Amino acid sequence: MKTRMTELFGIKHPIMCGGMMWLCKPDLCAAVSNAGALGNITAANYDTGAELAAAIRKTREMTDKPFSVNLSLLPSFRITKEMYLDWFDACLAEKVAAFEISGAPVDKFFGPDAIKRGHDAGVKFIHKVGSVRHAIHADHAGYDAVIAAGVEEGGHPLSDDVTTVVLTPRMAESVKIPVITTGGMADGRTLAAALVLGAEGVMMASRFMATKECQMNEKVKDELIRRQEFDTVLYGKTIELQGRALKNAWVKKVQDMEARHAKLEEMAPLLSGLRQQTVWADGNTEDALMPVGQSIGLIHDVATCKEVVERIVKEAEGILKGSTQRLNIS
Ligand SMILES: Cc1cc2nc3c(=O)[nH]c(=O)nc-3n(C[C@H](O)[C@H](O)[C@H](O)COP(=O)(O)O)c2cc1C
Repeated sequence: MKTRMTELFGIKHPIMCGGMMWLCKPDLCAAVSNAGALGNITAANYDTGAELAAAIRKTREMTDKPFSVNLSLLPSFRITKEMYLDWFDACLAEKVAAFEISGAPVDKFFGPDAIKRGHDAGVKFIHKVGSVRHAIHADHAGYDAVIAAGVEEGGHPLSDDVTTVVLTPRMAESVKIPVITTGGMADGRTLAAALVLGAEGVMMASRFMATKECQMNEKVKDELIRRQEFDTVLYGKTIELQGRALKNAWVKKVQDMEARHAKLEEMAPLLSGLRQQTVWADGNTEDALMPVGQSIGLIHDVATCKEVVERIVKEAEGILKGSTQRLNIS
């Protein structure tokens, strides 16, 4: 399956892994890239550029295929501007294949020459955005691709709340650079749908959590499979950083605080991403905000990354070939 996305990154399949703090580390990244998709290292796993560079080099010992680095330029209690600059420079020095940027655009965050500096080092820029206006900005600023992130996605969907099904074609008709779809993507049917809607491929995160190579307590993977598409909720509109997480006792506490207009200082300990690390390790899924997408309703097994990627592509190819017959269109 060749698309503008596979050509842009030199990958076999039009699939990439989305950034996941504490989970997108060298083992998972290399497994996704070795499966022919674009793996991901999430910069926020590390405290310094040197630590990130070491993770990039470790990944390269396990794969000779391209992978991206996620930089989340979002408000954070922990990450300082110096840390972002350090990570950015480390990625240029290591000449990673691409940045997956979320939050603020790099040209505004690091300055107008940031994209040129990246391109000179051979690094491509993908911006994950939830609106057409942000996609148009990325196109004009010189990004190489945009990700249409619908409200179904895990992590931090934009509070515009536009679904993937509407956002993808709107973006595809509005920008010249390739559009990659995320939010609700987890199988061959959704990949085929994204391509039909005008995307050049998909990005998935929750689906890659339920893989053998994702390093987390097996109890969390079992819980993801048990839970359904209605088992996630949105929170955070009152603090202007919306998130989607698994329904649990922790997010209920956050929602209750929001309902009584609690101040950010009071909510901060509950929102800290540091807690997630403990949950991924001990498997107590009630004990932190657990970012996941509505796509968990489509995830029914734990498989290797290779099995996941190959199965999705085969299924999508079958659907796209067969749909004209099934719909009786000549
Ligand atoms: C566990 C988890 C952690 C995430 N962490 C980040 C992150 O650090 N930075 C980021 O930009 N997006 C993050 N996301 C969002 C994903 O990269 C992606 O946009 C989204 O999850 C796609 O929806 P899906 O999970 O249904 O495939 C995270 C998602 C999950 C599930």
